Formats: sequence, C-alpha cells, structure tokens
Amino acid sequence: MATIGVFDSGIGGLTVLNEALRQAPAHHYIYLADSVNAPYGEKSSEWVAQRSLDLCHWLAREGCQALVVACNTATAEAIAHIRNDMPAIPIIGVEPGIKPAVHQSNNQKIGVLATQNTLKSDKFNALLKSLQGDCEFISQAGLGLVPLIEEGKIDAPETEALLREHLSVMQTAGIDTLVLGCTHYPFLLPLIRKILGNDIQIVDTSAAVIKQLTRKLEEFELLQSPPPRTIRLYSTLDADHLHQLAKQLIPTALEQHGVETSTVFIS
Ligand code: DGL
Repeated sequence: MATIGVFDSGIGGLTVLNEALRQAPAHHYIYLADSVNAPYGEKSSEWVAQRSLDLCHWLAREGCQALVVACNTATAEAIAHIRNDMPAIPIIGVEPGIKPAVHQSNNQKIGVLATQNTLKSDKFNALLKSLQGDCEFISQAGLGLVPLIEEGKIDAPETEALLREHLSVMQTAGIDTLVLGCTHYPFLLPLIRKILGNDIQIVDTSAAVIKQLTRKLEEFELLQSPPPRTIRLYSTLDADHLHQLAKQLIPTALEQHGVETSTVFIS
C-alpha cells in the first residue's frame, strides 16, 4: 500500500495532484502546500534547496514512500540534493516541457513562462542549451502571478492585466507554443487562452510527470491501496483555504478519496 507525498510552495502542485488522482487514483496521497513561504520563485537558491529537503524529510516521516516535487523551482534548485539525501525513496520532479515544445512548434518560436529562479537555474539553462538548435525561446518570469493565484484570483482583472504584460513580449515575437514552467500557471489557462487565442499550443508536463511516477511505483514495487483511500491536505499557512481552493479548482479529483486537512508548522 503506497502513500505518495506531493509538495509545492503553495497550491500550484494541485495541478499535479489532479493528474495523479486521474492516472493513479488507487493510492493514499499527502499534499503539502508551503504557502507560508510562497512564492519560492524569488527566494535564494540555497534557501529553496534547504527548505525543499526539509519538506521531503517531513513527508517521509509522515509515511510517504514516494515523493513528487510538484514545483519547477524546487526541482531546479533541489532535486539533486534530495535524491542524494534520500536514495531509498523514488523522487519525481517537474521541469518546463521545452523538449515536447520543440517537437510541437511549427514556427520554432517558443515562449517559456516560469519563475525567475527556474529561468536562472543551471538545470534549466543546460536543458535550453541542449535544445536550442534552430528554435528561438522567449523566456519570461511570471513575477507577481503566484501570490495572486495563492489568493484564488485566477480570473481577476488584476491577474489578467499582469498576465497580459508578461505575455506581450511573446505575442510580439509571434510564438506558436507556450510552455507553462510553473505548476501554478495551469490554473490561468482560461485567461491565457483569452489573451493568446485558441491556436496557440500550450505545454504542461503534469501528465508526463505522473507517467514517470507510475513507472517508479512499479519499479519500487509500491502497491495500490484498497479503498477507502485518503488525501491529506496540509498547509503551512491555512489548511481551510487550501481545502476551499482544492474543492474549487480540482473538484472531481477529490471525489473518490476521504479528505483530511491540517495546518502544520514545519521548522
Ligand atoms: N509552483 C512553483 C513552480 O512550479 C513555485 C512558484 C513559486 O512559489 O514561485 O515553480
């Protein structure tokens, strides 16, 4: 019987949990939102690396046998340390889907919207370099978007105005493909479509990440759990707020599990 831990700086990783519950529902899940510290995207690399490691250890102490780092920023800054430190546990990360974007783009103009830390990271830049070829990447940090999403303002006029600003350089460049390089951003899909239209291809890696999770669960012989199954929603800020947003943003995913919530302090 497997319990899988999923964490993010806040509610963004719910987009990954949503996919996990779709593809691999027969497990217990613990979701940890470190909302008291969101956003991670503008914090120091050292801080993000240490905090991510601390949260993974906390999830392992809670009984998780596999971990999903459902945050591009934490993956970029910390996944190597986490894997070194916890070799017995499968650790799955997320990174901007620029590889699939290169295959999908017809005009070789690709936008990447991600946090400042992800865009600055060695991991991201190494990936970009390996794929550059004939493609033009227009990268933009989504400064200010995560705090608005954390408040649940996914369709507010101020969110739309800020998003328009961030996407304008990509529109001018004529991108045909946009990579969502932060797990919070899929919640902005309706606004992104409103601004960029329906012809733009949007790349989100959640489905591929959960495919990788299911492969790892098989490899580590982590078996499915019989019902009743639970999802524990933990927040370092306000578990009720997290639960409300989860019910609003990923309602169907929560239907088949008993949901428990708790606000936790993690030093
Ligand atoms: N959701 C996260 C990511 O995928 C982090 C956003 C943030 O806290 O800045 O990068």
